Amino acid sequence: MFYLPLFHRLQGAQCLVVGGGQTALRKLRWLVRAEAQITVIAPQVDPEIQRMRDAGQLRIERTGFYAEAVHGQLRLVISATNAPEVSEAVFVAALKHGVLVNCVDRTELCTIIFPAIIDRLPILVAVSSMGQSPTLARSVRGWIETRLPQGLGRLAELAGRLRIQVKQGLPNVDERKAYWDSVFDSSAADKAIQGDLKAAVALAEEMLDGQTNSGQILLVGAGPGDPDLITLRGLRAIQTADVLMYDKLVNPALLDYARRDVELVDVGKQGPREEVVGATGWGAAASTPNKIRPTGTTMQAAINQRMVDEAMGGKKVVRLKGGDPFIFGRGGEELLVAAEHGLEVAVVPGITAGMAAASYAGIPLTHRHMSQSVRFLTGHRVVDAENVEWAEWARDDQTLVIYMGLVSLPKIQKRLLAAGRAETTPAVLIENATLTGQREIYGTLKTLPEQVEAAQITGPSVIIVGEVVDVPKQAEKARIAAKNPGQIPL
Ligand SMILES: C[S@@+](CC[C@H](N)C(=O)[O-])C[C@H]1O[C@@H](n2cnc3c(N)ncnc32)[C@H](O)[C@@H]1O
Repeated sequence: MFYLPLFHRLQGAQCLVVGGGQTALRKLRWLVRAEAQITVIAPQVDPEIQRMRDAGQLRIERTGFYAEAVHGQLRLVISATNAPEVSEAVFVAALKHGVLVNCVDRTELCTIIFPAIIDRLPILVAVSSMGQSPTLARSVRGWIETRLPQGLGRLAELAGRLRIQVKQGLPNVDERKAYWDSVFDSSAADKAIQGDLKAAVALAEEMLDGQTNSGQILLVGAGPGDPDLITLRGLRAIQTADVLMYDKLVNPALLDYARRDVELVDVGKQGPREEVVGATGWGAAASTPNKIRPTGTTMQAAINQRMVDEAMGGKKVVRLKGGDPFIFGRGGEELLVAAEHGLEVAVVPGITAGMAAASYAGIPLTHRHMSQSVRFLTGHRVVDAENVEWAEWARDDQTLVIYMGLVSLPKIQKRLLAAGRAETTPAVLIENATLTGQREIYGTLKTLPEQVEAAQITGPSVIIVGEVVDVPKQAEKARIAAKNPGQIPL
C-alpha cells in the first residue's frame, strides 16, 4: 500500500480519539500541537490527558465507544485501544461518514497513518515505512535526527525575515537560488542555528549587498581516532565544507562524509617518532587528495596560507584536526591568522586524545581520593625548556597526561623523580587510543620507560601518570571478588 505524505491543517477541526492510555496520549500531543478541537472517549484516562482537559485543550467523555460518536462533522478519528472489536467498529463508522481514520497497530483499518516525526519547526520531517514497520521508521528518524541541528528551525526563520528583501534585491530566480545556497552554507547559517538571529540577519544582508566575502574557516576537532567520537556539529561542518584540510591523525573514515565535490587537502604533519601513524595506525587517506607535503613535513605557514587563500576566495574551509583544535593542535595560531585577514572563524571542539585514552582504558583523570587536578603536557621539547616548574608537575595529588612524550619519556621520568614524584607512582602508555589497535602498557614511573622501549611503539600515544592509573586494576579485582563471593583476590 502506498500512502502519499501530506501535511494536514487541523486547526479548529473536530477530531475524536478513542482510548485514554499512553498510545492515545502520544497522538493527543500532536493533535493539541495542531490546535485541533479534540474529544476523547474513554472510561478512564491517563493523568496527563486529564491535565490536558484541565488546561482546556480537549474534552473527555468518560464512556465506552458508541457508533454515534462518529459523525460527518469530524475530520479525523483515531482508535487507540487494545480492544480489536472497538477499532473495527470505529473503522466502519468512519468509512460510513467519510471521516479520515487511524486505528493504531491495525494498518488494514487505516485510511491515514502517522509518520515518525522529526520536529525542527517550521521544518518538519516525516518518515514512513508505509505501515510495514513503525519501529524501523522510528530508527530511521533517529538516524536523521542526529544529522539535523536542533536550531534548524531558526534557519527557516532567517529565510522568512529576508524573503521580501531578497525578492526585491534579486528579481532573477536563479540568482535568488544561488544567494540562498550560499547563505545556507555560510557563517550566517551557523549564527542562526546557534540562536544569534540578529548577527545572522546582518551577515546575510551584507551578502545580499555584495559587501562581504562568504568565505569562512571552521577549526574542527575530529576526535581522538574512533570516527564515532566526532561531535554532531563537527560532522555537519565536514558535510558542508567546500575545502577540507585534514591532519594526519584524522581518521579517513570521516572524509567519506564530505560532499563529492569537496576539495580534500592532506596537510598531515610529521613530528617526533610517536606522531607518525605507522602500521598500527589507520594508514593512508581514503581518497586521492591534494597534498601539501613538500619534504615530508608540512610547514604551518603553508597550511595557514592555503587556508586563508581558500576562504578569501569565498570558500567554506574546514580545518579538521585530530582531537581538539585547541589542545596541542595549533588551533590558536590558525585562529589568529584567520582573524588577521578579517575572516570569519569558528571553532568546533573535539574530544582530546588524552581524555579519550583515559576513558577507553577506564582511568578517571580525577578522583576524589587520589587526584584533585589534571595537567595536559606536551613532551615535545619540554625537557629542554627552562620555564618548566618541575616541582609543581611532580605534586602527588594530580594526574599528568603527556602528549608527544614517547621520545622524551626517559628524560621526563628523571625530572619528575628528581622533583620528588615517587618511583612507585602508577603510569601507563596508551597507544592508538580508541582504535581497534589500542594498546596499554602499565607500569610505574620507575619502570615505564624501559617497558615502552621494549614494546616498540609505532602509533600515536599518550602517557598518564598518577594514582588514578591503578583504578582499572582495582576495578578488575572488585569484579573478580563480586563474581567469587567469599574469596579475596590477590
Ligand atoms: C599534535 S598532538 C595533537 C593533539 C590533539 N589536538 C588532541 O587534542 O588530541 C598529537 C599527539 O596527540 C596524541 N594522540 C593523538 N591521537 C592519539 C591516539 N589515538 N592515541 C594516543 N595518542 C594520541 C599523541 O601524543 C600525538 O603525538
